[in-house]
Amino acid sequence: MIIKENQTFCMLKPDVIKRNLVGKVLTEIEKHFKIIKIESKQLDTLTIEEFYRDHKEKFFFKDMVKRLGVSMVIGCILEIQDNKEKDIIGKLRKIMGATNPGNAEEGTIRNMYALSIDENSVHGSDSLDNAQREAKLFFEGI
Ligand code: CMP
Repeated sequence: MIIKENQTFCMLKPDVIKRNLVGKVLTEIEKHFKIIKIESKQLDTLTIEEFYRDHKEKFFFKDMVKRLGVSMVIGCILEIQDNKEKDIIGKLRKIMGATNPGNAEEGTIRNMYALSIDENSVHGSDSLDNAQREAKLFFEGI
């Protein structure tokens, strides 16, 4: 699986599934992106640890891994169709809003739906390399 420059990866977290907000969150995403691949699955601990490996040393790592594994999640590959758009990664992160929903701008997904920094509804890749790595891991496994 190859992620192209006009694509990125995003994941709807368990707090969205639990509160039946999948449709609402995907509606926000679809205002800006075409969903070209989507799948729901429950990730095992090893996969989640690998997914969040950049955060391995953080104090919240263990909790975060546990929280993401409590139910299924939804992974998507998103594509921008307007080839004048350059910053795909930035665009998704802008519509998601700040990691901590308390700091997320009005109208962003996290401002509207996230519960806390721990249950912040969506994950979006922070670089093309990570989008490639995360999408491969999510859709194809370790
Ligand atoms: P996400 O964008 O998926 O990337 C890492 C996740 O760690 C982040 O969203 C948060 O849900 C979670 N997290 C928990 N505590 C913190 C913290 N103090 N700083 C950043 N991220 C945190």
